[in-house]
Amino acid sequence: MNATQRPVDLRGQIGPITLSSYLFNASGPRCTTEQELIKLGRSRSAAVMTKSCTLAPRAGNAEPRYRALPLGAIQSMGLPNLGYQAYLEMLPRLKQVGKPVVISISGLSLADNTTMVSAFMASSADLLEINFSCPNIEGKPQLGYDLTQTRQALDTLCTLGDKPIGLKLPPYFDMAHFDAMADLLQQYPIAFVTCVNSVGNTLVIDPETETAMIRPKGGFGGLCGDYIKPIGLANVRAFRQRLPQRIDVIGVGGIKTGTDAFEYLLAGASAVQIATCYEEEGTSCFDRIERELGQLLQRKGYASIAQAKGQLKTLD
Ligand code: DHB
Repeated sequence: MNATQRPVDLRGQIGPITLSSYLFNASGPRCTTEQELIKLGRSRSAAVMTKSCTLAPRAGNAEPRYRALPLGAIQSMGLPNLGYQAYLEMLPRLKQVGKPVVISISGLSLADNTTMVSAFMASSADLLEINFSCPNIEGKPQLGYDLTQTRQALDTLCTLGDKPIGLKLPPYFDMAHFDAMADLLQQYPIAFVTCVNSVGNTLVIDPETETAMIRPKGGFGGLCGDYIKPIGLANVRAFRQRLPQRIDVIGVGGIKTGTDAFEYLLAGASAVQIATCYEEEGTSCFDRIERELGQLLQRKGYASIAQAKGQLKTLD
């Protein structure tokens, strides 16, 4: 940076909360234990996001349940977590790190979600991200693919308190689904949507051993990383175009460089989350990607995240 260049304003936004940077961790890797969460708090991650919690603690699915692949990973973790009460109890200590704490909630029923959302509404958590898209629990379809159940859930969950809530959505693949889900979501007082969860129920095969890569569900699991970046970008763009400005769109899926984060910014993301790259690289990914994004914006003459947000050009 020479003397005439000002640093780029890299602050992100989620509803009423301004983040110190554009990047934080996604619910998933390395965010289950208090030790992991405190480490995130001390890193450059702009917020501390927890692993999705359930009512009771869970050990998760049988191993192997995560396999790194050349361009990402396939996983079927099965919601291993400490149970929501453990996260409630550790919240005061997480808050001491001085950044927003986002609680990811993934109840196995509406009753479970109601109990957990009510409890965290009365806590010091800053934001709640309710997971409508876990693909890895046998017998539990992804809520976000069922409009009727999504409506029923929001009718209840949006009445439980004033803390900003958001939804973690599954990837959609048809314009009619973007339209239908966006129409529904804007009828509710939600602060943000997070697009996308892993692409559920994919199958990766090792041809040498003629065996599925992971054990749970006969090998079916969520696809993550570079493979899903175009899907994440499309979902961010589609929801940004359809939702009112009061609902922020948070991007996730295949972000491992400043350029990836910039593409999500062009698509309209107010902030982005890092999952697979954080799993592989650890907390240094937040500094590195933030630095790369800052340099890219500087080179392109943008002074802030806000200036570039949603500025994608199309060829029509
Ligand atoms: C798990 C996977 C997901 O993609 C998700 O949204 C929640 C949980 C898991 O298997 O633990």
